[in-house]
Amino acid sequence: MTLVAAQAERNESLLTWFKANSRDLPWRRSTDPYPVLLSEVMLQQTQVRRVLPKFEAFMEHWPTIESLAAARTDELLRVWSGLGYNSRALRLQDAARWITRSGWPDTLAGLCELPGVGSYTAAAVGAISFGIDVPAVDTNLTRILSRWAGEPLSGAMLSEYAYEVVGTPAGDWNQALMDLGSAVCIRQAPMCSVCPVSKWCGDPTVYEPPPRQSRFEGSHRQLRGALLHAHLNGTDLHDIGRALNRSDTEIALALSALEDEGLIDVVLRDT
Ligand code: ADE
Repeated sequence: MTLVAAQAERNESLLTWFKANSRDLPWRRSTDPYPVLLSEVMLQQTQVRRVLPKFEAFMEHWPTIESLAAARTDELLRVWSGLGYNSRALRLQDAARWITRSGWPDTLAGLCELPGVGSYTAAAVGAISFGIDVPAVDTNLTRILSRWAGEPLSGAMLSEYAYEVVGTPAGDWNQALMDLGSAVCIRQAPMCSVCPVSKWCGDPTVYEPPPRQSRFEGSHRQLRGALLHAHLNGTDLHDIGRALNRSDTEIALALSALEDEGLIDVVLRDT
């Protein structure tokens, strides 16, 4: 059998598995680019489990891209709060305003120009909503494709390999691999006995796990999130700082960074 025929068989088996096993996620109910973009931005640094309630809340508050563009920024940050990396919300609103003015870009290059949209997010939205046949390579895909290839892939080699093996429709292919990566082809102890594509796998043990995200407790990220939350809810910022056992200097630095990034619009240094 030729390589191309083997790849076609592998993709067919993968997509058949996906039809029967895909996760029922709210942003998958249509290919409308607005919920797809919203979910992809939320999923950039946050797990599906934590994104689910926030995605539903956003769609309830702002059911269209135009309504998101017109949202009050403090309200936007209040609803976003809890997802972390809050500047994503501001860039998402910038993107919504851009799209409301000029319409949806429907090419990869056009999508990449939207604020907060990098090459992964552009590929995911392009494949799912605009039918562009591109791989959206995140950590799950990197691990799976490395196993298919039988060696750890990164950089240009990874990208080349992904373009070589991507199946159609690419929206389903990418999301099939996301689900396979979360349920079957997991980082440690992959479940090859139930894997629909194990027959074509180079080496399921090959992947080097990436470093884990650093601890949240005690982190600068935790302090920033707590201060922003307190600001949006009118809570005393000193109480929050004290509760987290942080010095006044650390709190002042975090506040001034939040202010510089436009996440806090009032001068708070002497509170
Ligand atoms: N992670 C990133 N994008 C996703 C999607 N569309 N479905 C599930 N997990 C994802």
